[in-house]
Amino acid sequence: MKIGIICGSHRSNSQSGKVARYIENALLTQGLCDATWLYDLGGNPLPLWDESIWEGDEQWQQILTPLSEQLKSCDGLVVVCPEWHGMAPAGLKNFFLMWTAGGELAHKPALIVTVSTADGGSFPIAELRMSSYKNSRICYLPEHLIIRNVDTVFNEDPAQNKPDAQEYFDDRLAYCLAMLKEYALAFRQIRASGKASLETYTSGM
Ligand SMILES: Cc1cc2nc3c(=O)[nH]c(=O)nc-3n(C[C@H](O)[C@H](O)[C@H](O)COP(=O)(O)O)c2cc1C
Repeated sequence: MKIGIICGSHRSNSQSGKVARYIENALLTQGLCDATWLYDLGGNPLPLWDESIWEGDEQWQQILTPLSEQLKSCDGLVVVCPEWHGMAPAGLKNFFLMWTAGGELAHKPALIVTVSTADGGSFPIAELRMSSYKNSRICYLPEHLIIRNVDTVFNEDPAQNKPDAQEYFDDRLAYCLAMLKEYALAFRQIRASGKASLETYTSGM
């Protein structure tokens, strides 16, 4: 069982990165998977999608092939997404443009975790649920996490965390990750069934 964690903030040293690293550690220490892959867009955004991807451009292949292989080997994903001006960051939406016909994300369960320094975080939940799955065929769990006041939780130094908030999020995160594991186990069967064909219907309706 391998779970990929995508950090959707393309700010270096982002709070989303902090949360993503915490989640990776939680997955491993709670024995929920054998391997993880953390891909942080922070300071490392992908170039903006352009049409040469569809023509097999060599430069694009050099960038995308290692990422594609990592994604293909994942059974499930955690998408950590900050709220920026009430939206998901452009770099994360750009990331989703890359993975369509190759099936890297197709019929794989994913937990959305949104991040806000204040009381935001619900807009990117709605945005991802509405607009990132159609062609990638990623399958979001009905459960999600909204990490509000993120400065007060998931800090490396526990003394910086607000104890009651940290306890609440630890419990809720453990619940969501356990659910993600069960979905990931079950969805293997869907992919193995051979019923899902990206060749027949490359684009969703
Ligand atoms: C360009 C930009 C726009 C932002 N807009 C919002 C917003 O609309 N709502 C909100 O709750 N926080 C907003 N924030 C603050 C983020 O919640 C904060 O930066 C938080 O740490 C998550 O982003 P990060 O993962 O990039 O650090 C914004 C931050 C940036 C950089």
